[in-house]
Amino acid sequence: MIDQITRQADEAAAAVESAATLADLQQVESDQLGRSAPLTLSKRQLGSIPVENRKEAGRALNEARRRVESMLEDRRRTLADAERASRLVAERLDLTEVPPAVEAGHAHIVTQAWEELEDVFVGMGYEVAEGPEVETDWHNFDALNIPAGHPARDEFDTIYVNHGKAGSTLLRTHTSPVQIRAMQQSEPPIYIVAPGRVFRRDTADATHMPVFHQIEGLVIDKGISLADLAGTIEVFTERYFGPGFSSRLRPNHFPFTEPSAEFDIQRPDGSWLELGGCGMVHPDVLRAGGVNPEQWSGFAFGFGIDRLALMKFGVDDLRELFTNDVRFLRQF
Ligand code: PHE
Repeated sequence: MIDQITRQADEAAAAVESAATLADLQQVESDQLGRSAPLTLSKRQLGSIPVENRKEAGRALNEARRRVESMLEDRRRTLADAERASRLVAERLDLTEVPPAVEAGHAHIVTQAWEELEDVFVGMGYEVAEGPEVETDWHNFDALNIPAGHPARDEFDTIYVNHGKAGSTLLRTHTSPVQIRAMQQSEPPIYIVAPGRVFRRDTADATHMPVFHQIEGLVIDKGISLADLAGTIEVFTERYFGPGFSSRLRPNHFPFTEPSAEFDIQRPDGSWLELGGCGMVHPDVLRAGGVNPEQWSGFAFGFGIDRLALMKFGVDDLRELFTNDVRFLRQF
């Protein structure tokens, strides 16, 4: 009987050791310790063996069961650990942070044109100046030789601001008031460009916007002449537009310059682009800026930036510049 129990226990132990999964082990447990397991059957036989051997056999049987139970316990823990480990590997989530697809932006095409223009003039020795967008009627008009009632005022379609005396405050209609502020702020010689936003009461269409951009130039020095103005426009044209482009001045009229001219750019194919206005700074304007016209002379010019951007990038509608549709902006 003892031998039988020992053999059954050894077989049970071998079965436990060979269980490869928790499911196998469960099967082994019921096979080896369940109702029809060999050890269970042996226990039932106890009653039929001689009384003097029963005690020893009973003890051997209990030990055998305990041994199998404890082996089952060990094996269960081992298999459970292994299964958990392999499940962790199988179910592992890759939580490494993947940076979202960030799109780098770039400067708006008007800003690009604005900055390139600044660069060209800075390269020619100019400083960049600024003036307020909300301007006084005096800086925008009177100081520029456009007194109240002057017909030139009508050309500017002014947007007035409800501030101070009626008609005294406005959104600047051009960058020319920065000429006055530059002269008031510093002594000549003055070499500045002043890019910025300007405003006019206009209905938006392909070639007009109530908000647009200009760049103003002002030079005040000793003995400045019309030849310096023409030469400056020519150098600027070559540097900004590139080789093969040239410029010309056409007589025109502005109240703040005398003589005044319109300047055009000739493209390599011979066609002309009207760019802006220029001229020798009017003595009244020098005086308004606190500069003595007996000692100093100078020239000024001003032109739109937006149209340059349109031309450069082959866009045909000014409104595209302001709608800020990324699908449009992304192209440049
Ligand atoms: N301010 C003028 C305009 O807006 C342009 C200009 C500037 C003309 C400087 C002459 C000198 O039309």
